[in-house]
Amino acid sequence: MKQVIAALLIIITIISLIVIAFTINQVGEEERRLRVDLQYRSTLLAESLKETVEPNFINKSEKYLQDVVERFANKERFAGLGIYDNKNNVIALSSTIPEASSAALNVVANAMDADKANGDFQNFDNNKFYLLAIPLHDDKSVVGALMVVQNASYIDDRLNEIWRNNLIRLVIQASLLSFATLLLIRWIIYVPIRGLVETLKLARMGGVERSPKGLTSSFFFRPLVKEISNIRSSLIEARTSASEEARMRLEQLDSPWTAERLKEFVKDLLKGRSIFMVSNREPYVHTKNGGRISYYFPASGMATAIEPVMRSCGGVWIAYGSGDADKLVVDRFNRIKVPPDEPKYTLRRVWLTEEEEKGYYDGFSNEGLWPLCHIAHNRPIFRKEDWEEYKKVNQKFADAILSEIKNQDRPIVLIQDFHLSLVPKMVKMQRHGAVIGIFWHIPWPNPEAFSICPWKKEILDGMLGADLAGFQTQLHCNNFIETVSRELESLIDFEQFTITRNNHISYIKPFPISISFPNGFDKRADADAKLEKDELLKTLGIKTKYICVGIDRLDYTKGIPERLKGIEIFLHNNPSYQGNFTFIQIAAPSRTKVKKYRDFALEVEKEVERINALFKIKNWKPIILLERHHSHTEIQKFYRATDVCLVTSLHDGMNLVAKEFVASRYDEKGVLILSQYTGASRELRDALIVNPYNGEQTAQAVKEALEMTPKEQIKRMRSMRETLKNYNVYRWSAELLKTIVNLG
Ligand code: G6P
Repeated sequence: MKQVIAALLIIITIISLIVIAFTINQVGEEERRLRVDLQYRSTLLAESLKETVEPNFINKSEKYLQDVVERFANKERFAGLGIYDNKNNVIALSSTIPEASSAALNVVANAMDADKANGDFQNFDNNKFYLLAIPLHDDKSVVGALMVVQNASYIDDRLNEIWRNNLIRLVIQASLLSFATLLLIRWIIYVPIRGLVETLKLARMGGVERSPKGLTSSFFFRPLVKEISNIRSSLIEARTSASEEARMRLEQLDSPWTAERLKEFVKDLLKGRSIFMVSNREPYVHTKNGGRISYYFPASGMATAIEPVMRSCGGVWIAYGSGDADKLVVDRFNRIKVPPDEPKYTLRRVWLTEEEEKGYYDGFSNEGLWPLCHIAHNRPIFRKEDWEEYKKVNQKFADAILSEIKNQDRPIVLIQDFHLSLVPKMVKMQRHGAVIGIFWHIPWPNPEAFSICPWKKEILDGMLGADLAGFQTQLHCNNFIETVSRELESLIDFEQFTITRNNHISYIKPFPISISFPNGFDKRADADAKLEKDELLKTLGIKTKYICVGIDRLDYTKGIPERLKGIEIFLHNNPSYQGNFTFIQIAAPSRTKVKKYRDFALEVEKEVERINALFKIKNWKPIILLERHHSHTEIQKFYRATDVCLVTSLHDGMNLVAKEFVASRYDEKGVLILSQYTGASRELRDALIVNPYNGEQTAQAVKEALEMTPKEQIKRMRSMRETLKNYNVYRWSAELLKTIVNLG
């Protein structure tokens, strides 16, 4: 759009310059012509009057002269007459003539001195006049002068009129030309290009059967069209064979899982049944940005993991519409096709009032359940009014699910996380035929810890409405089963890992969640790790030899102050790294309406300032805190450029940052330092595992990571990448779906 505006501005400027130059010339010529014409007419008039005036002047007939003067006054464009003696005294003067000024008297005097006609343009009372004086003679000498005064304002009027007309013409021409240019751009460039893009997009999304748009007659793009047509055919071919290959691989569980394979698997497994994903956080948040609406992908491990699954399986994702422009982009059923650039599934938004959000999300979920489930030494807060809102909102989600699955035969409902623990039972009570799973992305604490929740029984009862309750690790499953056995009347089968309550069986199983691998940010053909690192450092305006990054939501469970302490100890113990080691913390603001989170953000800022003040040298400081939301693409650059990635959560269900870092390192370099209290540490055993509470250990791990030989780095990274390749999110969802489909 900027280019189009620039093109229009150039066109308008050029036309304006041409019209102005042309008008200046036209005005000049017209002025010359009108002046010459006026001078000529004035001379003729003066000469003819002279014949009448001269004899009477000599006879001194002043009365007669005054009559002559008055007779000629006020004729069209003729302003008046004046007759002067050779001493410049007025003999007769039209009453209509403007006050004689010294300039007028000069005209008369000059005519008499030179003994020839003398004319000049002069302004009186804001009007322009032409004054022409000719000498009067007796037999021997000059005895006086006759002055003719003509109104010359019409010359300026005429010139102004030319300017006005030409400017109006300019505006009309510029508008028509701009309009025509826009039409041409649209017709010759925009429409064919859009058609081509559409064609490629369709081919990329597998739209083989649809007729290719855009591959039409545009003369300019004919060679491009031909090339794109070939690319399209190749894409379709590749897609068909990939899908065929994926179908053939279905039975061989050991071969790598891909989006394509999952798609084929799900098609085969579901046989027309639909998937309904449900979570609090939505995958795409639309916001107002000046006059425009844009969207972003939120910083949420849950959303990051589930989104690729939805992309390949399709279906409906029901979530809270939290963006300030979310309502503006949905249809009348509160649905929108996403991803917005390449729709693959439907996002159905649920709206919450401010009060509901405060009680259900900020209060019960984030101040109550979150600290309850994470052992991060933050006391949970349980308020009756928050619980009431939590129940209300869970019912709202249940109602939205029920309306979406109304016409579905045996729908599969997958509920995500701790915000919606009551939903499984609420839906099951209304739709016995629906198969329901709930996946708990965060840790499940031990029974003692959980027992402090005043509504523990209702929460457990709500969750047991699900046919399958999934957790990140076997330990969390065990904790859950034990909690149920202490709190509710139920039958527990420790062999099958099932809980039977009110004649309904719930299976309890671990499904360690993962990420999409490969992650779509694969090695660029021209990529050079060193260059990428230099580029990033240049953008950040820092000079350093080694980088270490931490990427987290600003959440007290992530162990950020502990990690900063580790960095401080590292620099203190290893002064040779001062000046050439920088720790970059990307911190996405999170849950900012909750006081504890705001206080936590301040604590981190202060800690960074403190440590920076301790070690700062000239332009170098050890820690850079980037406190804003970063897109996945931006984060990739940090993952790929860093020497070390530091994950020091105090307690974490899985921690996908660790997995994403590994997935991004196609160069098989870089070292991961990982907290032993993350689910990920059970799988990524080649990371340097640390206890985040032990600053000395973290500092030692940073040193070890920076000094690790490339050979060792490659060995460890290769092994971790192998783990991810074997158990990526496609396999996670395939196993989860297979389990759940087999249940009903
Ligand atoms: C954790 C939870 C997710 C949540 C994410 C971000 O990973 O398991 O359910 O989406 O944190 O938190 P937020 O409150 O911003 O959704």
